[in-house]
Parts: sequence; structure tokens; C-alpha cells
Amino acid sequence: MSNATQASNSPRILVFDSGVGGLSVAREILQRLPSVSLVYASDNGFFPYGTKGEAELIARVDVVMSRLLQEYPVDILVIACNTASTLTLPHLRSRLSLPIVGVVPAIKPAAKLSKTGVIGLLATPATVARPYTYELIREYAPQCDVISLGTSELVQIAEQKLRGETIDDQSIAHITAQLMQHEQAAQMDVLVLACTHFPLLKAELAASLPAAIQLIDSGEAIARRVEYLLEGRVGNTPNNTGHTAVFTKKTPEAERLIPALHTFGMHTAEFIDIE
Ligand code: DGL
Repeated sequence: MSNATQASNSPRILVFDSGVGGLSVAREILQRLPSVSLVYASDNGFFPYGTKGEAELIARVDVVMSRLLQEYPVDILVIACNTASTLTLPHLRSRLSLPIVGVVPAIKPAAKLSKTGVIGLLATPATVARPYTYELIREYAPQCDVISLGTSELVQIAEQKLRGETIDDQSIAHITAQLMQHEQAAQMDVLVLACTHFPLLKAELAASLPAAIQLIDSGEAIARRVEYLLEGRVGNTPNNTGHTAVFTKKTPEAERLIPALHTFGMHTAEFIDIE
């Protein structure tokens, strides 16, 4: 167990993603619950998840989760990845006894918010194609037209941004142009960022989309859910010991993320090798 985790008696939360995307969720949790002790886990050894087959992803998340929970015992697990949540939640919940919060596309709030009834869905190719996502649309947005686009390129661009590399605005413009090619795009007034990497590029995305389109994600709702599950166990004193980031593979790319991790409150970086 990390020193930071041991040092604090506050509730401990493991926030998990394939890469840096879950930091957009960790940020919301720490803003709402500054006294918690957070372990941020990136399965960079198997990144990206959005292009992986279902069976291999279920098996991988299983292995990684067992190891992480063994090394970092926590009170709540947050699967801060739409690609993993829309596939592995039932399996994880049947196997693990701790509370698990998953991140799924914010279709329901988008449908409520939209005045035109045309909403966009930007996610990984895997999330866009999941039965879980179709079911969310069928249940919560039956009256809406949903313009979907799956992209892995934006996931890579978010990683580059957090490594401090110059990001290519042209690539982002190319992706948003694909979305806007749809015949109903002119009516789209809400765009769901259904990959946790994408809120890390919110300013860049907003700059290349019409101003009338509101970008929404699930981060704040997840933080509220975590607060609810902790049922008043959280104090008001900010946790000044800092939080921990853990990677499943030691790579030069992961090491270049360390300055950005500091800005999110992760002052320790640890590496556990998971093959
Ligand atoms: N951040 C993840 C999500 O929310 C996926 C990124 C990946 O493809 O690994 O879907």
C-alpha cells in the first residue's frame, strides 16, 4: 500500500481507466470531496481499450482489478472509463463485494437538456457500438436523433496533451467536421463526451464546434454518486498528503505524465507490472 494511502484515515477511492481519461472524473471527485484519499490507476500496459475485443477486455480488467485491489485496498471503486463500464460492470459487480461506480454515456441528461431533440455522441469506437449504449438511447432518448461518432484518435490526442506535447488542432477539427457532416448536425444542441479522455479536450473541442452546442459528460454525476455512497463519512479537511497514481507498465510515456499528474493532485507515481 502506498504511503499516501496509509497516511490518511479518510475514505479511499480507486479511480480506474485505461489511461489519463479518468483524471477528468478524479478531478470532479476531488473537487466535491477534498478529504478523500484517491488512488488513480491507469492500465497503460493495455491502452487503448476502445479498439480491443470484448472477451480480451473483460479478461484484462479482471486481472488488473484483482491485482490493484490487492495492492491498494479501497472503500469504493470507480471505473472511470465508458469503454470498460459499458462492458464489464455486471461481471465486476458479481465478483467483487465493494461498491462499484461505473461511468456510462450521459444520454439521459443530454436528452433532458436538448431542445431540438438532436444530440451528438462522441465516444470510442467500442462504446458507440455497445448494446449497452443502444439500450441507454432506447430507454432515455427514444424521442431524440442521436448522431454518433467513434474515435480513438481523440483518446491519443488527450494523452499527448497531458504529456505536454503540442496537440494538433487540425486533427481535432477533422474529427468535429466528421460529426458536423451529418444531415441533422445543424440542429444538434448537446454533445455527449462519452469517453473520459474527451473532457480533457473540452476547450479544444468547443473551439472547433458551433457555440450553440453544449458539451456534457458524466464526471460531476459520478462525484455525486461517490458522495452518496460514502454517506457522510467524508470530512471537510482537505487531504494534504496528496494522492497516488499507479501505472500497470513503466514506460517513458507514463513518466512524461508525472508533471500533469501533479496538477491533478497525484503527488506519487507508482508502477506495478501487469503482463
Ligand atoms: N477513457 C476511456 C473511456 O472512457 C477509453 C479510452 C481508451 O480507448 O482506452 O472510454
